[in-house]
Amino acid sequence: EAAEKAGYEHFMMKEIHEQPKAVMDTLNSVLKDGKIDLTEVGMGEETIQKIQQIYIIACGSAYHVGMAAQYVLEDLAQIPVRVELASEFRYRKMALNTNSLAVIVSQSGETADSLAALRKCKEKGIRTLGIVNVVGSSIAREADNVFYTLAGPEISVATTKAYSTQLIASYALAIQFAKVRGTITEEAYDNYITELQTLPDKIHKILEDKERIQWFAAKQANVKDAFFVGRGIDYAISLEGSLKMKEISYIHSEAYAAGELKHGTISLIEDGTLVIGVLTQPDLYEKTISNMVECKSRGAYLMGLTTFGNYNTEDTADFTVYIPKTDPHFATSLAVIPLQLLGYYVSVAKGLDVDKPRNLAKSVTVE
Ligand code: G6P
Repeated sequence: EAAEKAGYEHFMMKEIHEQPKAVMDTLNSVLKDGKIDLTEVGMGEETIQKIQQIYIIACGSAYHVGMAAQYVLEDLAQIPVRVELASEFRYRKMALNTNSLAVIVSQSGETADSLAALRKCKEKGIRTLGIVNVVGSSIAREADNVFYTLAGPEISVATTKAYSTQLIASYALAIQFAKVRGTITEEAYDNYITELQTLPDKIHKILEDKERIQWFAAKQANVKDAFFVGRGIDYAISLEGSLKMKEISYIHSEAYAAGELKHGTISLIEDGTLVIGVLTQPDLYEKTISNMVECKSRGAYLMGLTTFGNYNTEDTADFTVYIPKTDPHFATSLAVIPLQLLGYYVSVAKGLDVDKPRNLAKSVTVE
C-alpha cells in the first residue's frame, strides 16, 4: 500500500496532487485543434440544438459539481438547468420536459440512487449523458452517452480529483452549449478554452503553498462548528468545502448561501465560531463581505478565500487565503483546492483515519 501512495501519507493527499494532471487529461480528451469537440460524447451540434432544458442529477460531491455547473451553464448558454439530488429525484412526481438532457454525474457509476434516476429519465424518453469516472460501470453502460472523466482510480473515500474532473467536463459542456446556442461570441469561446487550459498550472501553484493551510488547520482542529458562506458559484464552492470538512474531520459544518444567514444560522454564531467566506465572484464580493462583517460583530473568527488582488479582504477576515485569478465561471476549480487541504489537514491534526472516515463508503450501492 505504501508504494501505491507514492510517498504520500494518505491516498487523499496523493489524489489532491494528481489534480493538475487529471484536469488536463480530461480537458484534452475533448479538445481538437483548440476547439471543444463533443461528438464522441454524443453531443454534436444538432443534438445540442434540440435540447431545451438540462437536469443534472447526482449525489454527494457530484451533486455539488452540478450546483456549480448550473450557474455556469445558465450564464454562458442561457439554458434552464435544474440540479437534483438523485435520491429525491427518483421519487419525485414532477412534469419533465422531454426535449431535455439529463446529466448523471458519478465517479463510481454505481451509486444506487443515481442509477435509479438515470433509469427513470430513460423511461420518460429523456436523453441521458453520464459524466462518469469508472469505465464500464452501470451508469456508463446504461446512459445513452458517456463523458468519461480521466481521474484514474480514486481510493480515498473523500473525493478530490474525480470532483475536479467532473467540473472540467461540465465547463466543456457549458462552453459548447453556449457556442452552439449562439450565446457567446467566437472570441469569447476561444478565450474560455484558453482559460481552461491554464487551470492545471494554477492548481499546481495553490498546492505549492499548502503549508500555510496546514498551519491554519492545526490551529482550528478543535473548533466545534464551522460555517461556509458564499453567493452564487461561491455558494456551490461552500457546499463542497463544508462536506470535505465534516466527512473527514468530524467537525460539524454547514454551508449557507450568505444571504440566508440572517434567516437562522446567524443565531449560532458565538465567540470563536469559524466562518469561512468564499469570495471569488467579483459582482457578489461586497455582499458576502458585509455578511462576514455581521458574523464578525457577533464574535466569529473569519477566514476569507478570495482571488489575488482582493487584498482588502484582510480588513475583515482574520486569515485570508488567495487563489490565482481565473474567469469567475471557473473559480470553483481553484477555490476548492485550499478547502480540500483544510479538511485534510484538520483530519490529520486530529489523528483521524483520513482515507476511510467512519460510517462512510466510497460508493453507495444500496439505498
Ligand atoms: C459517496 C462518496 C462521495 C461521493 C458520493 C457519490 O458518498 O463518499 O465522495 O461524492 O458517494 O458517489 P459517485 O460515485 O456517484 O460520484
